[in-house]
Amino acid sequence: MSWEGLIEENFDRFVEELKEFLKIPSVSADPRFRDDVFECADWLVKAIKDAGADKVELIPTDKYPLVYAEKNVDENAPTIWIYGHYDVQPPDPLDQWITPPFEPDIRDGAIYARGASDDKGQLYMYVKALELLNKVGKLKYNLRFLIEGEEEIGSENLEKYILQNHDSMKGDMVLVSDTALPGPETPGITVSLRGICYFEVSAYGPSHDLHSGTYGGAVQNPVHAIAHLIIALRDPITGRIMIPGFYDDVKELDPEERELVRKGSWNDEEIKKSLGIDALIGEAGFSPFESATIRPSMDVNGIWGGYTGEGSKTIIPSEAHAKISFRLVADQSWQKINEAFKKFVEEFKVPGIRFEVKTFHGGDPVKTPLEFWGYQKAANAMEQVFGKKPIPLYTGGSIPVLATWQRKTGMPPILMGFGLESDRIHAPNEHFNLNLFRKGINTICTLLSSEL
Ligand code: BES
Ligand code: ZN
Repeated sequence: MSWEGLIEENFDRFVEELKEFLKIPSVSADPRFRDDVFECADWLVKAIKDAGADKVELIPTDKYPLVYAEKNVDENAPTIWIYGHYDVQPPDPLDQWITPPFEPDIRDGAIYARGASDDKGQLYMYVKALELLNKVGKLKYNLRFLIEGEEEIGSENLEKYILQNHDSMKGDMVLVSDTALPGPETPGITVSLRGICYFEVSAYGPSHDLHSGTYGGAVQNPVHAIAHLIIALRDPITGRIMIPGFYDDVKELDPEERELVRKGSWNDEEIKKSLGIDALIGEAGFSPFESATIRPSMDVNGIWGGYTGEGSKTIIPSEAHAKISFRLVADQSWQKINEAFKKFVEEFKVPGIRFEVKTFHGGDPVKTPLEFWGYQKAANAMEQVFGKKPIPLYTGGSIPVLATWQRKTGMPPILMGFGLESDRIHAPNEHFNLNLFRKGINTICTLLSSEL
């Protein structure tokens, strides 16, 4: 039987197994889920063993383990590294989920759970593709799985692992499914991801909360100070980020490449409607889509301070905080932006306030050259399964470790994702279209069995 027949015959079982994977709340950001993250790594080891890998092991790190596996078919064949992550984002806000985040539910042809699309559902396609290719004896490439449990918190330990072990990481490409397609019938391959640099900024004022009647008007309020800082970081008219030197390394795309970007653009009207907003914003001279993909951006991910409970309370809080991140594009380096941001805050003076900056993590932008043979292979596989040629996609999200991986080993990433922008990743009611789960397995089998 072909793998296509086997996908159909085994599909219900694949979905049941994926449900087991999704039930494990492997939230890397929150230490309360620590044991679950470890359990999830063990679960994955067993799943890859059962799929028929030659060797599977857990590689311990300072935080969560890497899952490493090998399948060798022919020493003269190219070696493909498969990357993915078994950790997930926090499920909050919990009350907005229709069914609980770690009790997978099937509705309208999709599986709903935290991590369904990002990235457990997409990662699991590789485990099942390995199982099927072993059964039909069609695997043509040597495989190396390197799966981490810290992607959603910046990949610090996988980064360290690569910096220490790149000499022994021989291979030809890094294959990843952790991105989205333009539509369920429209294939695409991501060729550009933005980098990221993530901070927490704190503003400290009086040594304790004050009565705002006694001191209001005389003592600077840390929440005001944080607000001032945030406003100063981005020009409200041009949308440009005001950190000196921020744009120094930004490479403008030539008109041909910009046209390519435009081909993969969303439709502004549709996006506004689907998001329930009446306007999009953007950097002067660039469309909203360009501003979210090929231009750097700044976001406040959260801000808190003072009294936020029921009813009212009259105080000047003693401190306030914000989580601020920047998305970066070629050739910006997150290390440089890290320094530039810290300097900006250091020089931003608000009398009566002391600012502190903590850097959480960062990663550089990545690009896949369209001429790379691996891109052509992946594009052919997608075309066979979807009946249409995939378009190159410029994506605004980040996978922080890939730039280092490419720089240290020379392996370009192939970002062959099967999610949809509407999957609600990082949000309540995350889901993954089961038909794309099926097509993903099919495409991966097609690619990994293609003639060298
Ligand atoms: N799967 C995403 C990357 C992504 C986002 C692809 C949007 C396509 C569209 C990935 O798992 C992710 O969310 N990465 C984080 C990294 C960060 C926490 C360091 C991101 O981009 O926020
Ligand atoms: Zn994510």
